[in-house]
Amino acid sequence: MENITKRFPGVVALEQVRFEICEGEIVALIGENGAGKSTLMNILGGVHQPDEGEIEVAGQAAKIRSVSDANALGVGFVHQELNILDNLDVGANVYLGREPRRLGLINRRKIAADTRPYLEVLGLDVDPETPLAALSIGQQQMVEIAKALSKDAKIIIMDEPTSSLTLSETERLLEVIHDLGKNGIAVIYISHRLGEVNQCADRVVALRDGCNAGELRREEINHDAMVRLMVGRDLERTPSHVSTRALDSKRFTVSNLRSSLYPNRKVSFEVAGGEILGMAGLVGAGRSELAQAAFGVDPPLEGCVNIDGASLKRGSVKESIRAGLYLAPEDRKQTGLVLEFEIIQNITLASLGSYASRFGLIDRDAERAEAERQVESLRIKTPSACTAAINLSGGNQQKVVLGKWLSMNPKVIIFDEPTRGIDVGAKNEIYKLIRKLAERGVAIWMISSDMEEVLGVSDRIVVMHEGRISGELQRDAFGEEAIMHLAVGGPKT
Ligand SMILES: Nc1ncnc2c1ncn2[C@@H]1O[C@H](COP(=O)(O)OP(=O)(O)OP(=O)(O)O)[C@@H](O)[C@H]1O
Ligand SMILES: [Mg+2]
Repeated sequence: MENITKRFPGVVALEQVRFEICEGEIVALIGENGAGKSTLMNILGGVHQPDEGEIEVAGQAAKIRSVSDANALGVGFVHQELNILDNLDVGANVYLGREPRRLGLINRRKIAADTRPYLEVLGLDVDPETPLAALSIGQQQMVEIAKALSKDAKIIIMDEPTSSLTLSETERLLEVIHDLGKNGIAVIYISHRLGEVNQCADRVVALRDGCNAGELRREEINHDAMVRLMVGRDLERTPSHVSTRALDSKRFTVSNLRSSLYPNRKVSFEVAGGEILGMAGLVGAGRSELAQAAFGVDPPLEGCVNIDGASLKRGSVKESIRAGLYLAPEDRKQTGLVLEFEIIQNITLASLGSYASRFGLIDRDAERAEAERQVESLRIKTPSACTAAINLSGGNQQKVVLGKWLSMNPKVIIFDEPTRGIDVGAKNEIYKLIRKLAERGVAIWMISSDMEEVLGVSDRIVVMHEGRISGELQRDAFGEEAIMHLAVGGPKT
């Protein structure tokens, strides 16, 4: 790709960008949120057309006007947000839109037989007739890769493939990427997880503000060098901190809460005002379900939630918000944002009442001023606060979700994976904000699968395993091994 320029209304997403990859090479594409990584790959994948620039595939000038053009050139794409139809089975997904037919009918047996070898290559041990909905996200990701392979892809693009995977699924995916490379397939891999990049990339290409920011060869790849390319300066590492906050005991208590995922487990714990409680555990341990039950999205089967001694009505989000309990959910596209709305509306949505005048009219200027304050303090990368959320990069959407709650007056905030998909620099900003909230006396319940984050930000850690709390760690007992030990079940009882 040579001299690629792409403009969106109000934004130059890419400017004269150059990118190349060889057969069998694994290239990691890195950069801060909004740097242009997804846009560049969407151009290679036929989703967007560049305004300027040339693309060459295997020495031939290529015009990629659509996704099928890209497929015909051997470019396969595993997207940032999976686009699998989960009411179909595995084989039907792999052959979607090009089903082999016999006498005009879809030949299911052939689909299953043709799918099997691809699943084997990827080490995915499921029957092609398994419905997709029955698979974990990691397995669904493998199905997407199988689809790319079955279309004879020579270049496979993966946009943040590991952001929703468990540790073991991530390891497995990195092995698969390595094997793809050995078999001559070029893999382009976008990730904010620099440890993984270090583990699997042959070369790193960095973008900054839509321009090439430099490259690293295999032997030059390390954490600090990558950060320097992405942000253009050195960054402080996640500062481990000593809390000096006064704790307001029992601001928030959860008693005997049962959620639908593990209906036989009751969970109880407390978070003091001013305290940051980290909740660790493996994907599937039931942490998000518990948070949703506490917030009232899913009515809990049993149990109660108390704020400052007053118990909340069960299963009412409205009541939770009124009492000052907020949830910043993990899945921002489904539950955190109204994508078609402007940033302003997304930020003020939950607190609209406080912008209303006596006559019920919304004070648009005040609304806008608050949104602009959040855009500034969270450094949301956008042409203006009037931009629709759907046009923001993944990480910037996450910041808008945070802005919504920060603009209110919370007593308790549940953060579910607060920095998923967020770049290193912005992560530190968000940690500062979380601490600032704690200093204001807010009780913070932070669910996180990011080890560095749980250890660096929490005052106390509880670990969940299969729907129950398998242990609790005070600051002096913090450690990666201690957490992993509890996450897989802890001491046998
Ligand atoms: N469809 C669109 N309409 C308008 N602007 C867009 C659109 N898609 C992307 N942008 C803008 O282009 C810029 C680059 O976005 P892009 O999604 O490529 O970033 P990214 O590097 O993938 O970031 P992230 O790490 O957060 O996923 C951003 O400023 C974004 O707001
Ligand atoms: Mg992106």
